[in-house]
Amino acid sequence: MNFYLDRKGVPGYNVTYHGKVVIDSSRLGFVLKDAPALDTDFDIVNSSTTTYDSTWEQPWGEEHFIRDRHTQLKVELQERTGLKRKLNILFRAFDYGVGFRYEFPDQENLKDFTVMDELTEFNMTNDNKAWWIPAFSGWRYEHLYTESPASQFKWVHTPVTFETPDSVYMSIHEAALYNFPSMLVKNEGHNKFKSYLVPIDKKSLARAVLKTPFSTPWRTIQIAERPGDLITSYLILNLNEPNKLGDVSWVKPGKYVGVWWEMHLNKGTWNQGPKHSANTKNTKRYIDFAAKNGFDGVLVEGWNVGWDSAWMNSGKDFKFDQPYPDYDVNELSRYAKEKGVYIIGHHETGSGIENYEAQLEKAYQFLEDHGMKAVKTGYVEMGDTLTNGKYHHGQFYVNHFQHVVETAAKHHVVVVAHEPIKDTGIRRTYPNMASREAARGQEYNAWGENGGNPPNHVTILPFTRLLSGPMDYTPGVFDILTPTQPNNQINGTLAKELALFVVIYAPYQMACDLPENYEGNAAFQFIRDVPTDWETTKVLEASIGQYITVAREERNTDNWYIGAITNEKPRSANIKLDFLKPDKKYEATIYKDGPKAHYLHNPTQFAIEKMDVTSQSALNVQLAASGGAAIRIVEKK
Ligand code: NOJ
Repeated sequence: MNFYLDRKGVPGYNVTYHGKVVIDSSRLGFVLKDAPALDTDFDIVNSSTTTYDSTWEQPWGEEHFIRDRHTQLKVELQERTGLKRKLNILFRAFDYGVGFRYEFPDQENLKDFTVMDELTEFNMTNDNKAWWIPAFSGWRYEHLYTESPASQFKWVHTPVTFETPDSVYMSIHEAALYNFPSMLVKNEGHNKFKSYLVPIDKKSLARAVLKTPFSTPWRTIQIAERPGDLITSYLILNLNEPNKLGDVSWVKPGKYVGVWWEMHLNKGTWNQGPKHSANTKNTKRYIDFAAKNGFDGVLVEGWNVGWDSAWMNSGKDFKFDQPYPDYDVNELSRYAKEKGVYIIGHHETGSGIENYEAQLEKAYQFLEDHGMKAVKTGYVEMGDTLTNGKYHHGQFYVNHFQHVVETAAKHHVVVVAHEPIKDTGIRRTYPNMASREAARGQEYNAWGENGGNPPNHVTILPFTRLLSGPMDYTPGVFDILTPTQPNNQINGTLAKELALFVVIYAPYQMACDLPENYEGNAAFQFIRDVPTDWETTKVLEASIGQYITVAREERNTDNWYIGAITNEKPRSANIKLDFLKPDKKYEATIYKDGPKAHYLHNPTQFAIEKMDVTSQSALNVQLAASGGAAIRIVEKK
C-alpha cells in the first residue's frame, strides 16, 4: 500500500498485490458542513512506520487464536494555508489485505463538526466481477446477490466482493464502526468507486455529527488468491480493539430451538388469538425438546405485549417487561432452569427505537431477573428508514445499537440481532455481541415471495455477508417437502441444511424446524452433535456462488466437522483429511444426499455412512443438485 500527496496536496493511496495494482490511485478526504473540505492543500507533518506481530485469543469464535501481523504507517497531515487543520491517516498492511482509518485530532480550528461526505475512493484497474446487493432498495440489506461486472451496480452494501481478471479476490467493508454511519460503495463510473456514507435522515444529507478527537471506522480491503482465504483472514477482527468487557465467561456459545418457525409457516401467530404460539404449554413443549436433545436455549417470540396492532414500522405498543396473559414467564423461567436450558428473550422493536430506548434498562433487568442469558433483537421496517425517519444504517442507529450492546453486557445478556447494523467485528471488543442476521435468512424460504432463496444464495453468503461476522441464518429445516407458504420453498436438500451448521458460522446457532419434524429422523443426530465453538477453521474447496467445503475443529476436543454445499449443479466434493493428526485413527460419520436426491423433486433423501479414516484419507462425496454433505470425524479411542 502506498500513500501519496499530489502536487496540490490532495492525499491518496493505491494497493499492489503480488506486483499487480489492485486498487489504483484513490483519493482520501472529507467534505464538512459550513467549513472548507478537508481534502487538499496538505503537507505531511510527520510519518512513522511500525511493525506489529502478536497472537490474541478469542473467548469464543471460529478460530481460537488469531495472529495479527501488520505494518502500520501513520501519516500526520496539516493544511498548508487557511485554517491549518490537521488530519491523520493510519494505514495497516497485512499479508491478506489493508485497512485504513482517519483520525481528526483535537485542535483549535476543528472542534464540533459535521461530515457531509467521505471522499475515500476504491478505484480499480478493470471492470472486475462483483457479488453485490443494492443499497437504498428497501428491505435493508435483505436482497439476493447479483454476480455481474462491477460497472452494473449503482451503490451497494458492503462487504462487496470482487474478482479481478487475474483471479485476485477482494472484498471491501469496514471495521470498528462506532458513532459514524455505515459505509456504502458507490459506482462513479470508469472503474471508480467511492465511499458513500448513509445520511442521518431523509431531510438532510448530513452524515455524522462529531467532536474532535475522533477516529473513523477502518476501511477494509481484504485481498486473496483463493476465495476461501477471504474467510480465514480475520483482518476485520484484527482491526478491532481487544475485549473491553473483562471476564466474559458468561458468554457461552450454544445451539437453540424456538417458538419461531411455526409462526413463519403461518401455523401460529405472534399476536394474541387462538393460534398464539408463545403460550405456556407450547413453550414447555420446546423446553422439553431442547432439554432432551442437548440444546442450550429456547427462543420465544410473541411473548410480550405489542404484537396485536400493526407493529412493523411502528413498534409503539411493544412492552419489554409485560408478557401476554397466556405466557407465564415466571413459571417458564423456573421450568427452563430446572431442565438445564434457558429462554432466549425477544425484543422486536418494529424499528421504534425511542420506545425501546425508553424501556431499555428495565427490559434488560427483566431478562437478567428471569435467567434469560441471550436476547434476539429486531428492527423490522420495510423501507430504508426507521419509524422516526432516520436511516437504518445511519449514525443514529449505529449509536442506538451500541447502547443496546453495552446495556446488555451490563446485565450479562448476549445479543443476537436481526435487522441490525452490519457487523464490523465489534464482537472482539464486546464479546456479548454474538451474531446478527443482516441478510436474507431462512425466513425468506417461508414468505420471501419469489420462491425462496435460490440454491446459490448460501454459496455466495460465505464470501460476502459472512466476511463481516457470524450470521443467524437459522438452518435446519427437515420438512422440505411440505410447502412453507404458497409460492415459497426451501431450495436445497436436507443434507445441505445439515451442512449449513458448519458452513455458516454462528456462535448461537438455531435449529429452526419444529420439534415434530426432527423427532425420529436419524439425520437429527448431526444437529445434536455439531458444536458452535471452534478451535480452527479451514476452507477446503471454494468457488464463489458455486460450492464451498469448510472444515472446523471443535474446541477442547479433537473432533472435526465438515460442511460441503453446492449450488444447483450436482458435484463431487473432494475432501482431503490431511488436517487430522497423523498418528491417530478416526471414525467419520457422513450425512450425504441419497443417490436420487435433488432439491426440487427429492430433497429429503439422504444416507448416513460410517467409515474409518486417517490423515491420509480423501473422501469423495457426491452432492446432489443444491445438495450438501455434513461430516463428523471423531477420534477412535
Ligand atoms: C424478522 C426477523 O428476522 C424474524 O426472525 C422475526 O421472527 C420477525 N422479524 C419478527 O420479529
